[in-house]
Amino acid sequence: MNLSPRLKKIVDFVPKNSIVADIGTDHGYVPKYLIDEGISKLVIATDISKGSLQKTLDYIREENLDEDIKARLGDGLEPILPFEVDTAIIAGMGGILITEIIAKSMDTAKSINNLILQPMVGSVELRKFLHGTGFRIVDEDIVKEGDKYYEIIVAKSGLQKFAKELDYEISPVLLKKKNPLIKELVETRLRINEKIIVSLRDNPGDKSKTRLMELEKIVRDYRGVL
Ligand SMILES: C[S@@+](CC[C@H](N)C(=O)[O-])C[C@H]1O[C@@H](n2cnc3c(N)ncnc32)[C@H](O)[C@@H]1O
Repeated sequence: MNLSPRLKKIVDFVPKNSIVADIGTDHGYVPKYLIDEGISKLVIATDISKGSLQKTLDYIREENLDEDIKARLGDGLEPILPFEVDTAIIAGMGGILITEIIAKSMDTAKSINNLILQPMVGSVELRKFLHGTGFRIVDEDIVKEGDKYYEIIVAKSGLQKFAKELDYEISPVLLKKKNPLIKELVETRLRINEKIIVSLRDNPGDKSKTRLMELEKIVRDYRGVL
C-alpha cells in the first residue's frame, strides 16, 4: 500500500512493534499500513465522526483484521486508556485542536511514549503548549506535498524550553535535521512576511505601525536563520 509523502513521513516515526492509537483516523490508511507492513502489533483507530470511522470498520471486516485494528468512536484521546498504547498519532488537524485533545486527556497523553503530531496549521502554538504542559519535543521533520509544507512533531512527557521566541517558529530540533526543505520553508515564510510589510508600508496607521515593527523583526530573525 502506497501512502502519500505526508502520511509516509508520519508512519516512519512509529517504532517497530508498537501499539498505536491513530486519533482522527478518517480513511484509515495509517492503521492499514502499520499492520500490512508489520510495523505495529495492534492499532486502535479512533474518530469523532461515525461516517469516518465506518471506512475503517468496513476494511477491518473485509480483511478479517478485527484482532489487529480496533475501531473506537470518540473525541480525541478519550477512547484510549492511560498506558493502553505506547504511540499515538494525531495528524491532519489544526494545531489548536491537537492542543485541546491533549489537554482534555492529560493522564493518557503523559502515559504515551511517542506522541506523533502533525498540525496542518498552528505549529507555533502547539510547540508552546507542549513546553507549557510538561512535554519535550524529541524529534521533528518536515515534508512537502504539492506546494504545501507539513511539520511533524514528536513529543513525550518531560521538561524542555526553547531559548528564544523564534525557536517556536523554526524549531532547533527541526534545524538539527538539516533537511533542505527547512530552508525552503523559511524562504517561503520570509516572502509572505515581506509582501505584508510592503502592503502595511503603503497603508500606514497606528495599528499597522506596531504590526510592521513586529514583522520587520521576524524578517530579520528569519534572515538570521538562513
Ligand atoms: C483531515 S482528517 C485527517 C485524517 C488523517 N489523520 C490524516 O492525517 O490524513 C481529520 C479527521 O479527524 C477527525 N476529528 C476531528 N476532530 C476530532 C476529535 N476531536 N477527535 C477525534 N477525531 C477528530 C475528523 O472526523 C476527520 O476524520
